[in-house]
Amino acid sequence: MMTKYDFDNLSDRRIDNARKWDYSIVKSKFPNVREDFIPLWIADMDFKAAPEIREALIEMSGNGAYGYTYPTEKWYQSVINWYRKRHNVELGKDWITLGYGTVPNMHVLVQRFLGEDDSIIMNTPIYGPFAYAAEHNDRKVITVPLLKHGTRYDLDLDKLEDKMAKYHPKAIFFCSPHNPSGRIWSKEEIEKVADLCLKYNVLFVSDEVHSEHIMRGTFTSALELDDKYLDNLIMFTSPNKAFNLGGLKLSYSVIPNEELRTKFREQYQRNSVTSPNIPGQIAMTTAYEKCNEWLDQCASYINENLEITKKYIDKYFDGWELMDMDSSYLPWVDVSKSKYSMHEIAEMMANEAGVVVGIGDDYVADADDFLRLNLGTSHQVIEEAMSRMAKVWQENN
Ligand SMILES: Cc1ncc(COP(=O)(O)O)c(C=O)c1O
Repeated sequence: MMTKYDFDNLSDRRIDNARKWDYSIVKSKFPNVREDFIPLWIADMDFKAAPEIREALIEMSGNGAYGYTYPTEKWYQSVINWYRKRHNVELGKDWITLGYGTVPNMHVLVQRFLGEDDSIIMNTPIYGPFAYAAEHNDRKVITVPLLKHGTRYDLDLDKLEDKMAKYHPKAIFFCSPHNPSGRIWSKEEIEKVADLCLKYNVLFVSDEVHSEHIMRGTFTSALELDDKYLDNLIMFTSPNKAFNLGGLKLSYSVIPNEELRTKFREQYQRNSVTSPNIPGQIAMTTAYEKCNEWLDQCASYINENLEITKKYIDKYFDGWELMDMDSSYLPWVDVSKSKYSMHEIAEMMANEAGVVVGIGDDYVADADDFLRLNLGTSHQVIEEAMSRMAKVWQENN
């Protein structure tokens, strides 16, 4: 019989010192925030992890052994099976390298593949740490604004080509599905980017961490492209967004081409990245082996949160426009038609409604009039947050 998972009873986020819920951190951003604030900012969910993962961690923890380990065969097989079943992609075991996080992996990539004057190109707005990976290593970032057609983003392939031809970036950091907005790129779109990469000798780096919560449409991994593209591809992902395991600090890369992966792994060696984190490896293996159904139910619960959010926005929030969201749990809201700036709205919501939202500033370029919400919480919390914000918006408009 199928288990019906409970997403209404949330975990107590004080126990894991969640940044998202930490009053002092929130207060440093919004000094007059209400003490009873609801956080809809950091991309972290409040649901308890799947019971199968909790049980595996309890068993590990009760055993009392936390010494050095290595990536296990069971772990590799769980990744291979996950891709086979969930994404219809056949991975070679050699292609997979376990890492300590997708953002750290991007830093490793910059360190190994970019020379002093090299740059990374990216479609913007995009997740802030994409730029940090270059900037923290004194490398340049080239941005190509996405085209905004109503409530949907499209790639600007002409501009992407112009900038590749002009600036010769070493790599593209491609976010697929896209954060912010949740836009899924079609196979055709991904192939066009991959073609430009081959034409201009740009390494294609695809971040696919948001590929598991799919609301509508079909996600295509860059790994589904033809072999000629795979030889120029580095794919980064982790179970962290899907299963809310970010604090366990584990991720992996998939690099079909041997030369590229040898080069990538050399940088791990230089930094002595060796034994994985034990709870992380156990949680990831369990997630991929046993939590397919939990993930599907989680995505449909989030979809219900999206419906609640849409209803409120349509009815009460004049000047707010939700961008189309195909995936993830992070609605991206265009507030350019309101009379307030995104900063004014975020402050108004923190102080008067006690709801903390994300602001466009946290993203790389082209996000001056946007807020980001977070639906990874219970229906009850979303109802409460949206109704508080609706009341405040009505009073101020
Ligand atoms: C696009 C994107 N990449 C990477 C990450 C972080 O991934 P990980 O937890 O695997 O380091 C996030 C987290 O929000 C993200 O949105």
